[in-house]
Amino acid sequence: ATQEIEKAPHAVRRRVVLFPLPFQGHLSPMLQLAELLRARGLAVTVLHTDFNAPDPARHPELAFVSIHEALPHEATSPDADIVAQLLALNSGCEAPFREALASLLLLREDVACVVVDGQWYAALGAAGALGVPVLALRTDSAATFGSLLAFPRLRDAGYVPIKEERRDDELVPELEPLRVRDLIRIDGSDVDALRGFIARVADAVRASASGVLLNSFDAIEAPELARIEKELSCPAFAVGPLHRMCPGPAPAEHGLHVPDRRCLAWLDAHPPRSVLYVSLGSVARVDRGVFEEMAWGLAGSGVPFLWVVRPGSVRGGGADELPNGLDEGFRSRGKVVAWAPQLEVLAHEAVGAFWTHCGWNSTLEGVCAGVPMLAQPCFADQTVNARYVTHRWGVGLEVGDVIDRARVAARVRMVMAGEEGDRARERARQLKLQADQCVAASFALDNLVQYVLSL
Ligand code: UDX
Repeated sequence: ATQEIEKAPHAVRRRVVLFPLPFQGHLSPMLQLAELLRARGLAVTVLHTDFNAPDPARHPELAFVSIHEALPHEATSPDADIVAQLLALNSGCEAPFREALASLLLLREDVACVVVDGQWYAALGAAGALGVPVLALRTDSAATFGSLLAFPRLRDAGYVPIKEERRDDELVPELEPLRVRDLIRIDGSDVDALRGFIARVADAVRASASGVLLNSFDAIEAPELARIEKELSCPAFAVGPLHRMCPGPAPAEHGLHVPDRRCLAWLDAHPPRSVLYVSLGSVARVDRGVFEEMAWGLAGSGVPFLWVVRPGSVRGGGADELPNGLDEGFRSRGKVVAWAPQLEVLAHEAVGAFWTHCGWNSTLEGVCAGVPMLAQPCFADQTVNARYVTHRWGVGLEVGDVIDRARVAARVRMVMAGEEGDRARERARQLKLQADQCVAASFALDNLVQYVLSL
């Protein structure tokens, strides 16, 4: 296969092969990128796992090829430790990905490059070994990616793993405004396994990537993007916000879940900026106790709310059932759905604020919609994103470390109608304008296409 590619004349290499990580927060930006590249004249083949496979019917102009992997239970179980899951996915998919890509390269002479999710360290190496240029798409922020690249230095400086809790509030010198407590961490995961995973990701990018794509943009992360450029010896393209750049099907349609669209009519019946939208994304799970405090806090706030309670997202007895005893007021003021058409919800004028776990997609979507946020980071990069929401951009407030009903009610009222909420709303409005300008002016995707064609 390698010889075939070397012989292929550059002019006919016009296809990009994409390989998304099979989770909602990763599939969406990769498929948005796919549509954007297709709209710019490139042919696109999506290699994908059978696990959480995307729906080809939603993307009639893209080609889809399964790698037909066979995965162990821990790679696909929602109960699996996330680091163990990522390690198992990487090792389980390496050979099937390599074989699928090699077959494709034999079949087609037009492949310009492969774009793999940045967490697919094994696929980065496998594509590199086949001699085809490979780019990594980071679906997290530039700040997060920068902190991963800096991990060995952070370890040497004693910031990770942190041994002294009193250092939690220290600013991390090269990563301000991040404090030690904001650095990526995964509760319950083995620290060595997390460190090993991060090292593999960073090493694979450094060893194999011909470029890095980031779902971010200058107005929100200019210094962080510049730092990454300096740190890597390959080019970095800030191609975000991808969901706003995308001309294709509404990004919500890339979903693995079916959105309950009836909530849009429910929102129609509410005055502007009166409803709090609550969603903790596609992966995070909360303990039953936290879930109950969220419910009672919403009840106590008196604020109308649209709450996504994803099936399986509550750990412990009683699962996702609302607690007994919530009054009629709570039930008539609120709507609970299993999955919402989030982009349309955020764009709805009835939505006054967004209580979010600060996954990077949700954070970008909130920023681009211009709504103030209430930040409740759960794990991984969400603490990084929450810090940017509250302290770098000033577009949101923290719920706080301890989720109790009185605090929740107070924070909900504050973000919806308090002075701090008003300040965050004004900042959110300004940041949305900057995002709009960035989308209108951005040449990053055109630059990327030129780069792809030059490979
Ligand atoms: C995971 C990680 O947890 C996160 O930290 C990382 O940045 C990406 O992967 P996830 O829970 O999927 O995040 O959150 P996020 O990145 O915010 O993506 C969730 C996506 O699902 C968003 O695009 C959002 O619009 C969509 N969504 C969520 C819906 O369409 N409807 C819903 O009801 C909830």
